[in-house]
Amino acid sequence: MHPFDEITVDQLRAAGSTKWTTFPDAIGAFIAEMDFGVPPAVAEVVRTAADSQAMGYLPAADRAAAKRATAHWLARSFDWQVPEDTVHLLPDVLSALRIAVQRFTPPGSPVIVPTPAYMPFLTVVPAVDRQVIEVPSLLEEDGRYRLDLEAIDAAFAAGAGLLVLCNPWNPVGRVLTREELSAVAEVVDRHGGRVFSDEIHAPLVLDDLPHIPYASLDARTAGHTITAVAASKGWNIPGLKCGQMILSNPDDVAAFAPYATDAGDTVGLLGGRGAVAAYTESQDWLEDVVTYLRGNRDLLVEMVDQIPGLRVSPVEGTYIAWLDCRELDLPGGPAQFFRREAGVALTDGTSCGRGGDGFARLIFASPRPVLEQALTQMRDAAARR
Ligand SMILES: Cc1ncc(COP(=O)(O)O)c(C=O)c1O
Repeated sequence: MHPFDEITVDQLRAAGSTKWTTFPDAIGAFIAEMDFGVPPAVAEVVRTAADSQAMGYLPAADRAAAKRATAHWLARSFDWQVPEDTVHLLPDVLSALRIAVQRFTPPGSPVIVPTPAYMPFLTVVPAVDRQVIEVPSLLEEDGRYRLDLEAIDAAFAAGAGLLVLCNPWNPVGRVLTREELSAVAEVVDRHGGRVFSDEIHAPLVLDDLPHIPYASLDARTAGHTITAVAASKGWNIPGLKCGQMILSNPDDVAAFAPYATDAGDTVGLLGGRGAVAAYTESQDWLEDVVTYLRGNRDLLVEMVDQIPGLRVSPVEGTYIAWLDCRELDLPGGPAQFFRREAGVALTDGTSCGRGGDGFARLIFASPRPVLEQALTQMRDAAARR
């Protein structure tokens, strides 16, 4: 028995997260938050700040420490060496996406978003007055997704300036291989394009696969990439608001320098110190979580297998399952159906862009008995239909 098994729904609702308060009558599985609390070292940062009444701006020494902690974590975990002064602190990963679009692409150029996609990619880009070119990905027989490189190539040829890459891939759970990343690089390089590589889920690889930072592949990818990482997902602290943007092209660092203090280092004291505590003092906590998530993933696969008409894409990384409900042909779409008939709150695949119709996204970072309950309720609802 793992201590996470004993966390109850009542406790989770009382804790007051978005996941557990948005739908008071349903099991929350629609937003990327984990139900496992936070690492002790992070809690200590917040407690100390409360005790000393310090909740202001991030002092310069802490800013440097957060950049250093990020660089050391990237080197230690993924063998990617980045100079500390190429790391910029931002409130979140989506702020980095806005900067990538606005500062590092030709004015007015469209942005390529492979789908199924993390939903906000499809709204943040239009919000900065750019067109999204959605490129539906290729779905293989076993439920695995592959990027459609020909369509990405055509989108660059049509004038797109940036490709949004998400690896590990929310919502479909892929961890892209070196060969896949190299093939992407080929296409991008051919057009002189740029890549925004969202690697926020990098700490959460479940299979025995390496996470390869796209920019770390070779000089080409380092030159055309803006990378975003954060401790937010792996260590469950998105509310502390600290993401990191890595500029691996020296020209980008120079071009961004005039904005780096106002647009580039905008996190508060809790975010900066929380990120340091996560990256430097919470590796054991993360390893425990990843092991637990692996068990949850295995249970999910086993239970989905017992629901006729339901399939799940192989989840190599993230704690997100992409459920293929098309055969069930659920009235109102899967999210509405399972919310109403099973009391489980999912994200409908349609909000993940083209190709999402008939699919749903399920966050499985819950205590195992809660996950089992959710899947049992979904199985029973599907059987009643
Ligand atoms: C792929 C991906 N990118 C970005 C985010 C949001 O991160 P942030 O809060 O740092 O913008 C999430 C959150 O779930 C995510 O899954």
